Amino acid sequence: MADFIGAVDQGTTSTRFMVFDHAGQEVARHQLEHEQVLPRAGWVEHNPLEIWDRTQSVIGSALTSAGITSADLAAIGITNQRETAIVWDRRTGRPFHNAIVWQDTRTAAIAKALDADGRGDVIRAKSGLPPATYFSGGKIQWLLENVDGLRAAAERGDAVFGTPDTWVVWNLTGGPDGGLHVTDVTNASRTMLMDLTTLDWDDELLGFFGIPRAMLPSIHPSSHPEAFGVTSGDRRTAKVPIAGVLGDQQAATVGQVCFEPGEAKNTYGTGNFLLLNTGEELVRSRNGLLTTVAYQLGDAKPVYALEGSIAVTGSAVQWLRDQLGIISGASEVERLAAQVEDTGGVYFVPAFSGLFAPYWRSDARGAIVGLSRFNTNAHLARATLEAICYQSRDVAEAMEADSGVEMTCLKVDGGVTANSLCMQLQADILGVPVSRPVVAETTALGAAYAAGLATGFWSGTDELRENWAEDRRWEPSWSEDQRREGYRGWKKAVERTLDWEE
Ligand code: G3P
Repeated sequence: MADFIGAVDQGTTSTRFMVFDHAGQEVARHQLEHEQVLPRAGWVEHNPLEIWDRTQSVIGSALTSAGITSADLAAIGITNQRETAIVWDRRTGRPFHNAIVWQDTRTAAIAKALDADGRGDVIRAKSGLPPATYFSGGKIQWLLENVDGLRAAAERGDAVFGTPDTWVVWNLTGGPDGGLHVTDVTNASRTMLMDLTTLDWDDELLGFFGIPRAMLPSIHPSSHPEAFGVTSGDRRTAKVPIAGVLGDQQAATVGQVCFEPGEAKNTYGTGNFLLLNTGEELVRSRNGLLTTVAYQLGDAKPVYALEGSIAVTGSAVQWLRDQLGIISGASEVERLAAQVEDTGGVYFVPAFSGLFAPYWRSDARGAIVGLSRFNTNAHLARATLEAICYQSRDVAEAMEADSGVEMTCLKVDGGVTANSLCMQLQADILGVPVSRPVVAETTALGAAYAAGLATGFWSGTDELRENWAEDRRWEPSWSEDQRREGYRGWKKAVERTLDWEE
């Protein structure tokens, strides 16, 4: 039997391929960024062909760096930025348009119209999502209305839609030469088009957006030995089964082995995403969270989650680097922020894509408040880190209110968790310990787990639990007063960001 499992993590800013061994330890990785296409304020696009090119490169390079070949891989898992909409011609593999990224707000009018006439409530009830620019349905509608010839091609069955998992699997399994047009329940649950109870596309929801069913991929469990096919075999990925597909936040939930109801994780990437496993029960939020599918392993019943999605966290650090130029690399933000003891009264609310959970205000725009002449770049850097943590506190509070379960420790993962100051601030702002596992790349690990469970590489979730080990824990150090006053200031700053853009 092959010794390793591979995982493609097609993220918002980069694509990586990682190889894991049976103990869930990293054997190799390679990662490449892709261009963030920003044609105008609020619009965010990716070039799907660049993403496919990067995917092939990172697979080849990671295998080479580990000195192994595809024959050493028992299976591959795919995980991805969710909601991002790609529409392409199944005869040629050419995209009709750049991918419209989950952060893009061009569909604000579409989302607003859904809530104006009652369709929004049907969407909430069936899909578990509030109408918002974030999800794929409105993005597909926008493409159908704005790209010449697309609607006719969609009705003929030539134009097909997919989130990045679907795009990558279609290409890996042969593209125009017989590629499989598939997705999994977790990705489908982010479109506003799937009924959470039937796990199928819903005709009424499709009708709301004017989307022909023929455009959509077939929906499968997240972990399955055959549903996602086998790589086509003309590259170093020769004939490897693709046995796991799930959205990146759901993958991180699996990678953090949150298999029991009540277990939660917070991933710090481009955005932050706090997911709480609610088991086979579909819990409806009363506090601005989403209901989503956490995973479905083979023929077992689906497991659901409550999710607090935050659009801008790590990407706010990127903004300090790329747009303001006050740091040269993401790792420098910690050094800069550590030059000061506090933010000097500054709050930064990075509402670049409006505010997601728990506010769901697409009219919000970013604000830096509390400035005085005393303030420096270092205060802004520290306020950026605090913003990551305050936004996580907002969703943690909503999670506690919805579930009635008090958080006693927060499991964290993702790139920003390498920033120790940020993790200390998170413990201070939440008032509970923060715990990071040895393998902080839990997104790729979760995709590998899904693929390995389907193919018998791992025997079951109990075996996976044994792979989890804590690397580091941060304990809260602020006084209750400091925590309360700090959060009060944050809430005031959030108020200032509302009612800017319709
Ligand atoms: O829902 C968006 C999410 O899937 C993006 O994750 O890690 O690419 O920021 P990430």
